[in-house]
Amino acid sequence: MRQDAVTAADRALAPPSPRGYPLVGHLPFMAKDAPGFFTTCAREHGGVVSLALGGWPTVLVSDPAAIEPILVRSHASYIKHNFFWRHVRAIFGEGLLTSNGALWQRQRRLAAPAFAGRKLDGYGAVMVRMTEEMLDRWTPGEARDVHVDMMGVTLRIAAKTLFDSELEEEVERIDHAVTLLMNEIAARYARPVLIPDAVPLPGHIRYRKGLKVVEEVIDRIVAERRARPADSGDLLALYMQARDEEGRGMSDRQLRDEMVTLLLAGHETTALVLSWAWYELARHPQAQERLAAEIEAVLGDRPAGVEDLRRLPFAECVVKESMRLYPPGWAIGRETTEEVEIGGYTIAKGTTVIMAPWVLHRDPRFFDEPEAFRPERWEDGLEERLPRFAYMPFGGGPRVCIGNRFSMMEAILLLVTMARRYRFAPTPGRDTTPFPSITLRPKDGVWVEVERRAAAA
Ligand code: HEM
Repeated sequence: MRQDAVTAADRALAPPSPRGYPLVGHLPFMAKDAPGFFTTCAREHGGVVSLALGGWPTVLVSDPAAIEPILVRSHASYIKHNFFWRHVRAIFGEGLLTSNGALWQRQRRLAAPAFAGRKLDGYGAVMVRMTEEMLDRWTPGEARDVHVDMMGVTLRIAAKTLFDSELEEEVERIDHAVTLLMNEIAARYARPVLIPDAVPLPGHIRYRKGLKVVEEVIDRIVAERRARPADSGDLLALYMQARDEEGRGMSDRQLRDEMVTLLLAGHETTALVLSWAWYELARHPQAQERLAAEIEAVLGDRPAGVEDLRRLPFAECVVKESMRLYPPGWAIGRETTEEVEIGGYTIAKGTTVIMAPWVLHRDPRFFDEPEAFRPERWEDGLEERLPRFAYMPFGGGPRVCIGNRFSMMEAILLLVTMARRYRFAPTPGRDTTPFPSITLRPKDGVWVEVERRAAAA
């Protein structure tokens, strides 16, 4: 039975916990189906659940009111969770996603201008142009894995907008490399012990190979900029011009960490929002036709621009509904740096704290028919009525996603540009399921059959 009210007597106790295994605790359940396991924990044991992940004491927090202090009011009592990030230091290093304290604060301030105001609006034209170029290469009537398409186009967009770099033949190699990395990360997430990257397990060899591809591309972008220094006002220029109080520039290692972080976080997440949106729209032709009608009414036969974003409310609902059902950041985490109180329980220093948008976004207390794809649920101000953090695709507080406005703009512009020219139907016999890694990927891609729309022919 669900326990929501924590009494004074409970406070002295640890939060409720499902039965686990000796030594490995609840890790085997995570290895099998982490989103499903977290959902069962929350539904059966309540808003704060105690877990043992190998030797790591952990709490799963699924009560929005208990999440607020973790992310906002008492955020200084937490750092990013080592339970997870220790496995992937070789990829993200001390970049913006993983760093803590003064380094994080300085780097966040430095990057912020690239994600705001006119700078951000300026990316809109690149987003639409690169999507149109992708659509020009499509053949009507063919079956395609639209997830591969989305990974490619969002990668090109991230490289162009943030680093003023054109990626062509590398796109396929990076897509393959990201898949290798994500598969290995998923395996590590459920591992009780840290096995050093140097141990030549087959998964580690693939991981190192994937990482090498990403690093080679970053090295190429940096080398080109150093050979042809230009103040193109992009994020790479901000990084290269940055000086600390002693006048020192950013180290090569820090620059590499930031660029890998932004290139990966900055394309895969938005690609997933779009891939899952097309997965559902292909199965909900009525919603797809409603989207097409909105586009026709607002745009007629011209391409979308940033100025249209506010006039495409249904497209925004589709994006929000895709992120509700398939939040790319399906679980986020912290580690306590001192004893804290969470949802009425006293939680020890060094505890891993997991918050799962996957669980919150499918909670029937907040969403009617939570498993159903219904973009229209967002139409009448649902977001304002929800408790804060019942819907949190971008996290919250000081460490809220730096790219949230970038990706909302990108997701809507790409969705509209694609829906204007093509109609999508599911490819018979090809379904998929969510595969949880650092992000929530479609296990077998998203196969669709594409038909050109008459108006855009
Ligand atoms: C729909 C797309 C996206 C989703 C769902 C998403 C989700 C998230 C979430 C949940 C967090 C918070 C993680 C935490 O609190 O532990 C986060 C942080 C972050 N995101 Fe995103 N993200 C998206 C797009 C982007 C884009 C486009 C970029 C960059 C171009 C980006 C870069 C980052 C970075 C650097 C952080 C760390 C920020 C910090 O800690 O200061 N994300 N993202």
